[in-house]
Amino acid sequence: MEWKVDRDADKPLYQQIFEYIEEKISYGEYPPGTLLPSERKLAQQLNVNRMTIAHVYDELQASGLVERKKGSGTRVSTHKWGILPKGVTNWRKYIEGGSFIPSYPLIRRIRSEAKVMENGYNLASGKLSSDLFPTQYLQSVLAEQTFPNDLGYEHPQGLLSLRETMASYVKSYHDINTTSSSVLITSGAQQALHLITQCLLNPGDAVAIEAPSYCYSLPLFQSAGLRIFGLPVDTNGVNPEDIVSLYEKHKIRMIFLNPTYHSPTGSSLSNSRRKRVLEISAELGIPIVEDDPVSLLSFDNEQHTPLKSYDKSGNVLYIGSLSKVIGSSLRIGWLIGPQTVINRLADAREQIDFGLSVFPQMIANLLLQSSEYPKHLEFLRQELVERRDEMTSALKEILGNQIEFTIPKGGLFIWCKINRNIDDQKLVEEGIKQKILFMPGSVYGSPNGYVRLTFAHLKKEEMREAVLRLADVLKNV
Ligand SMILES: Cc1ncc(COP(=O)(O)O)c(C=O)c1O
Repeated sequence: MEWKVDRDADKPLYQQIFEYIEEKISYGEYPPGTLLPSERKLAQQLNVNRMTIAHVYDELQASGLVERKKGSGTRVSTHKWGILPKGVTNWRKYIEGGSFIPSYPLIRRIRSEAKVMENGYNLASGKLSSDLFPTQYLQSVLAEQTFPNDLGYEHPQGLLSLRETMASYVKSYHDINTTSSSVLITSGAQQALHLITQCLLNPGDAVAIEAPSYCYSLPLFQSAGLRIFGLPVDTNGVNPEDIVSLYEKHKIRMIFLNPTYHSPTGSSLSNSRRKRVLEISAELGIPIVEDDPVSLLSFDNEQHTPLKSYDKSGNVLYIGSLSKVIGSSLRIGWLIGPQTVINRLADAREQIDFGLSVFPQMIANLLLQSSEYPKHLEFLRQELVERRDEMTSALKEILGNQIEFTIPKGGLFIWCKINRNIDDQKLVEEGIKQKILFMPGSVYGSPNGYVRLTFAHLKKEEMREAVLRLADVLKNV
């Protein structure tokens, strides 16, 4: 919940909360029939005593604004404001409709806790901690920015100047050859994945994704009606021959890979497997989507050349993002592929929102051209490697043989296997109780007993405390 009580105000807390809910009801934000959160949940969200919420709900009931029934919770009254029940839209029915499947309950639970948790440790979020954002560098770049003369609709593929910069950026950082007309600027990598699933595939199509995979946490694959088949990941990524067997059994139409510092496992596809995957893709005529948000966050100078860099036949759709190297709220991602595909997706983009706002694109263009960018990347790698080391040594020291993990050579995550039978749901709930969040493996399609820990979101000095708390969670489950 974004709203917070004002503890310095003269008004009592229960009254502030009463007025907040009363306003939501009178503005129609909580229409008649809306189920309000339980007393316990609202107390937790607002960080107040449960008795305060009980008092608020009693007052709301006394003034006729809500109805309370044992076993079915507290609902906004259907008779208030002269609205008859038959004239009331049943929003629940609409909410359950639509083509978008809601996010998984466990992910929703973790996200909503992350918003309200105070003095806790968030090892679940995939974002950088605030001290890793290049604020000064952004400010200096913004000072150079002149306001555009034309604020009309932009090209749906994205600002031409940014696409040109992107073409030389991917050449110098990833050895990918492309031109501005084959680049589509998207609202993060996420939108690129969404456009691909909606525009290039049909309901019922079979696709192969890594198992486990970030993509399992995205209901957008199910929303598009795709049939998903897993390619097991080992320390060298997926086994290319598994693609062949999946193709023979299910006629898969597309392969989604996150081959470098894979989320959640941190592993990278070896160079020999990269070549073999490309051969198979060409032999079977199956395109590959290469999702590559973190390959620049390498800790050992090992070069992981993207599949796209070897791709001469246009079989690879390459997705990049600034979320993990600059900041995720900038919402800058890109898709590189054959021009016909880019044109098709740009047309869809035009139908959806006429393209991304010009402002983050202008900023991204300046950022990527600035001589500060490579220095920022170096700083980021240095910071992340220190955090990784701090977390891995705390994990070894404090949790010893209770868990197993491979030290990641890049990226943001450590993938841990817990060496006993453990229920993911219980683990997450115990974590919430002890104010520590992490991603359970099941949201990535792995069996119970795995967790993904982000080392980029906590400061170095917080790591040990966080791991000690994790140990307490494991003790209690
Ligand atoms: C593997 C992977 N792909 C795509 C995304 C989406 O990133 P973006 O913020 O660019 O939409 C994420 C975000 O965590 C990710 O981990």
